[in-house]
Amino acid sequence: MSGHGDPIPMTARRSAPLKGVADVPGDKSISHRSLILGALSVGETHITGLLEGQDVLDTARAMRAFGAEVTHLAHGEWVVSGVGVGGFAEPEQVIDCGNSGTGVRLIMGAMATSPISATFTGDASLRSRPMGRVTDPLGLFGAAAYGRAGGRLPMTIVGAAEPVPVRYVVPVPSAQVKSAVLLAGLNAPGQTVVIEKEATRDHTERMLAGFGAEVSVEQTEEGRVITLTGQPELRPQSIVVPRDPSSAAFPVCAALIVEGSDVLVPGIGLNPTRAGLFITLQEMGADLTFENMREEGGEPVADLRARYSTAMRGIDVPPERAPSMIDEYPVLSVVAAFAAGKTVMRGVKELRVKESDRIDAMARGLEACGVTVEEDEDTLIVHGMGPGGMPGGAVCATHLDHRIAMSFLCAGMAAQKPVSVDDAGPISTSFPVFEPLMEGLGAHLGRSNR
Ligand code: S3P
Repeated sequence: MSGHGDPIPMTARRSAPLKGVADVPGDKSISHRSLILGALSVGETHITGLLEGQDVLDTARAMRAFGAEVTHLAHGEWVVSGVGVGGFAEPEQVIDCGNSGTGVRLIMGAMATSPISATFTGDASLRSRPMGRVTDPLGLFGAAAYGRAGGRLPMTIVGAAEPVPVRYVVPVPSAQVKSAVLLAGLNAPGQTVVIEKEATRDHTERMLAGFGAEVSVEQTEEGRVITLTGQPELRPQSIVVPRDPSSAAFPVCAALIVEGSDVLVPGIGLNPTRAGLFITLQEMGADLTFENMREEGGEPVADLRARYSTAMRGIDVPPERAPSMIDEYPVLSVVAAFAAGKTVMRGVKELRVKESDRIDAMARGLEACGVTVEEDEDTLIVHGMGPGGMPGGAVCATHLDHRIAMSFLCAGMAAQKPVSVDDAGPISTSFPVFEPLMEGLGAHLGRSNR
């Protein structure tokens, strides 16, 4: 919800070895999609392992506003009684998506081909993010968008009364844009085609097929071509949400940099469109292993084992890997500060339009912690100081960005002096149990600015 509460300053001090098992919560991307596709099905979708972070709770509330029944049964267990494709009712209130770009962009797509209007808003972070990337293709279906300058929220979408299918080449590597177009295509007659030059996370395509839509994916010279046949009747599903690799990144990376650590992070979804960080860490020489590889609900899953790693070296991260680890650059830049040599992250300009400008937020915070950083529009370079080498001793600004907050707290667990963040409140959007989970492993976290 927007109207973020009072800031929660938090400090991490150099930790004793992190030890034990880290049970991280459900995947945020899959949680949003479970609620939205459940709402677009006819009948009851059962979900277990749903992430009960604020972003997802805001999407649950939005689905109720569009007419779906959404019931919380027990921890992580939810039932959505859907209204079917084309069945959304017009919300009586403004839809507040809080901090969540995924929530607002996917929901805009899902309603844009129904003859209803809805007004969307969010917190200060979300109100500063560009929506034109989604409203441009939604306009091709016949929807109209009226927002603030620069395509910013609050914004009203007037859905197309007689939608037409579209063929759209996504101009930026964005799973949110791809997904908004596919969800809009659900209620357009005929075939909607989305082409992405670089593969981004593919949960929407996989889940649409699971819900019974006719969807095909083809690799061509133009890129990945996804073809969806509109106006299907989606069949309700039983969904087990895998644990979030983007949340697993934090205990994994903390274990690699805190002396003497040995942490097991079980049951992590390793969909190749999400697993880029772990490959990168292995290339850097991290002591990170995948144990008990298996398949669950059609997704590859493994237990991750991370141990303190003294031999990590900086690398050039291949730019084509960026979409598969786009949310993990902040915490990778912290690990890079504890490696030997330079880590070069190119092709990352999308980081500038996340919950914050993540290149700027990481660069300024790392510099304040005594790390040498270089940046340009599309690049972040971190000069590593080796194991235990980061001086720390700074208060870092998090700009309402959960991943910036968690990244600097991980830094503080291994730096010479404590590292504080000005506001840990946004961590509840994606990883509400971060603080007790990390403390359970042995981290020293405190709710104050040192
Ligand atoms: C997401 C897509 C990514 C990612 C975000 C979740 C999704 O955003 O950063 O955290 O669930 O589709 P972009 O589509 O803007 O790259």
